[in-house]
Amino acid sequence: MESKEVKKSVRDSYTKVAKRSSSCCGEESKSVDVSKALGYSLDELSSIPDEANMGLGCGNPTAIASLKEGEVVLDLGSGGGLDCFLASQKVGDTGKVIGVDMTPDMIDLARDNAEKNSFTNVEFRLGEIENLPAADNSIDVIISNCVINLSPEKQRVFNEAFRVLKQGGRMIISDIVLLKPLSEAIRNNKKLLAACVSGAELKNKYLEMIENAGFEDIQVKQKSDNITQEVEREKEDGEPEVKLVIDGVTIDIEDINEDKEDILNLGKSIQSITVIANKN
Ligand SMILES: C[S@@+](CC[C@H](N)C(=O)[O-])C[C@H]1O[C@@H](n2cnc3c(N)ncnc32)[C@H](O)[C@@H]1O
Repeated sequence: MESKEVKKSVRDSYTKVAKRSSSCCGEESKSVDVSKALGYSLDELSSIPDEANMGLGCGNPTAIASLKEGEVVLDLGSGGGLDCFLASQKVGDTGKVIGVDMTPDMIDLARDNAEKNSFTNVEFRLGEIENLPAADNSIDVIISNCVINLSPEKQRVFNEAFRVLKQGGRMIISDIVLLKPLSEAIRNNKKLLAACVSGAELKNKYLEMIENAGFEDIQVKQKSDNITQEVEREKEDGEPEVKLVIDGVTIDIEDINEDKEDILNLGKSIQSITVIANKN
């Protein structure tokens, strides 16, 4: 897929997710389960607006970011604002959190969440992470949760992250990476793109891009291989139907023109990691 087509497909998918969440019918309990599995505590989740947690992450970057009072934090691909609201409590009134997202409906949802819940030190900006709407050397900490895999220009994202960070700043990102290359059919599947699989980069290449941007002390802090889940349900005709759930997105494997076994083995090709890197 061309870069423009990837972005349109991603934006369309997350527009639907944002609209579902801001309507009455978001699957709140499922989102809480996904987030608990990623290490968010119930205390953390109850301290933020319910609508901000849509179960879209693949790690818990703020948990290991050691955020301090007064710091300025930038969240790449902030969605409904989950990690921004957690960060906002840690940096306090003297600090500030900026969320950037390219999907207008996500920005509306996040702003609504902030306003209704009186978060005054959080701001959401519409923009692309390949072209960050932030000044050079203005940010103490960059966080991101399950977003950079969706970008067709990952090197540019890391270059931008490096540009806006202050000297001495740090980046803590959770993301999906590949342990082995994916087939053409899987890479071109739009549902698997939105599920944070098709756009993912090989782990070594991903870490190399962070280094190429100028970051140092790069460490993979956490990794998890249990991202996919098979679900078997019974169809109306009594036949079992196998579905694959990846990062909270349910994939009907019949929709993918690929060997069923290859799809069910997808979990062995992907990993969720949390990386820390510094701008020294
Ligand atoms: C998987 S969701 C994660 C949302 C949030 N980080 C969370 O954990 O709840 C991905 C988000 O990244 C945004 N996004 C994807 N690609 C982007 C890009 N190139 N620039 C800005 N935002 C992007 C999407 O609109 C969506 O809101």
